[in-house]
Amino acid sequence: MDKFKIAGGGELNGEISISGAKNAALPILAATLLTDQTMTISNVPHLHDITTTMELLGRMGSDLMLDEKLNIEVTNNNITEFFAPYEMVKTMRASILVLGPLLARYGEADVSLPGGCAIGSRPVNIHLAGLAAMGADINVDKGYIKARAKRLKGTHLTLEMVTVTGTENLMMAAVLAEGKTILENAAREPEVIDLAECLIAMGANIEGAGTDTIIIEGVDSLHGAHHTILPDRIETGTFLVAATMAGGKIKLKNTRPELLDAVLAKLRSAGAEIVVDDTNITLTMKSGRPAAVDIHTSPFPGFPTDMQAQFTALNCIAEGNGTITENVFENRFMHVQELQRMGANIKLEGNTAICNGVKQLVGAPVMATDLRASACLVLAALVAEGETIVDRIYHIDRGYETIEEKFSQLGAEIIRIPG
Ligand code: UD1
Repeated sequence: MDKFKIAGGGELNGEISISGAKNAALPILAATLLTDQTMTISNVPHLHDITTTMELLGRMGSDLMLDEKLNIEVTNNNITEFFAPYEMVKTMRASILVLGPLLARYGEADVSLPGGCAIGSRPVNIHLAGLAAMGADINVDKGYIKARAKRLKGTHLTLEMVTVTGTENLMMAAVLAEGKTILENAAREPEVIDLAECLIAMGANIEGAGTDTIIIEGVDSLHGAHHTILPDRIETGTFLVAATMAGGKIKLKNTRPELLDAVLAKLRSAGAEIVVDDTNITLTMKSGRPAAVDIHTSPFPGFPTDMQAQFTALNCIAEGNGTITENVFENRFMHVQELQRMGANIKLEGNTAICNGVKQLVGAPVMATDLRASACLVLAALVAEGETIVDRIYHIDRGYETIEEKFSQLGAEIIRIPG
């Protein structure tokens, strides 16, 4: 297993380009199953989760082509398997996103139940209840969801909780259903809007994406289209936190500042100077420690749970006390124990991490436990005294494109040790 060796202490300075958003690319790749015509998708990030999705589509019969600019061309005119096996779903929970499209277009889908994961139980009951209300026959047997439907029927659904992939799965199912579907209490994340824009380009009739009520009028078929994936707001936020912790001046290009309002506000409270234009963010952090911040995670437009671990790392070296309250997932504090190994002073009380900032973290061997937790360990290592080895970085490779190259470009001392 690959590891990172990181020597902490230096400032970050320079420019990097932000990649396409993983959490938009995954549902959009699944959405290609909704048409037999060719789809071209640009700005797809080069990530392990994307490779897994391409493998999953490939074994179903998708014809996939990747050009040198990482545009992906997908043609699904020969799908022969309507099946997502446990081996794939267990490594990438987002495989559940093929359920809605397969059922809507082929009337049949067998998808493994995701099961538990490092950040809590993460059930899919809302996805299944929604599809059942649209007329699907759903059975869970030997760990597999077996869904069947002649043609799904539009319906009025109020989702029990705000769920991102749940909203996406149901929106993809509804675009080919008979009649109108109303999704209330829908997720408002930018990635849901990006998926809706792609579906609209394919001929779907969708209104309200980005609000909590999405209205979909089903159509008989969809056609091919070209779509460019929006920039990754979590990758953007991760680099911004890194520079706020390490000091220096960085410019992030090809991003969308308006998707990060909640995060930018907290970075400004921590002491960073931030200047934005349409597609760039420049952050300057003068020498000295950042100020501690209080964070409460919630669905968009609230503070993203996917940025929680990175801000926990920031609070570890900040001046003062900061509390991080996780409201979206149970058990998303696996990084706390590893940060403690580096000298952090953190106390966990229920779903809140109370950090009493220390002047200096100390390098240590640490272990990545999930995607965003591992990013937080890299940030901590960049400011720690001495050397840190971050083990199990396959978690990082799932969601960050060449993170070590981008940090090196900003002047960090980070190398990958192949394992
Ligand atoms: C997506 C993102 C993930 C992000 C999360 C929250 C993708 C591929 N992943 O995950 O990076 O951290 O949104 O912003 O886009 N829930 C249920 N029943 C369900 C579905 C969800 O109880 O059927 C609960 C979950 O356990 C969790 C909460 O709802 O407590 C939100 O989860 P959800 O928005 O579904 O997360 P994902 O879509 O899996």
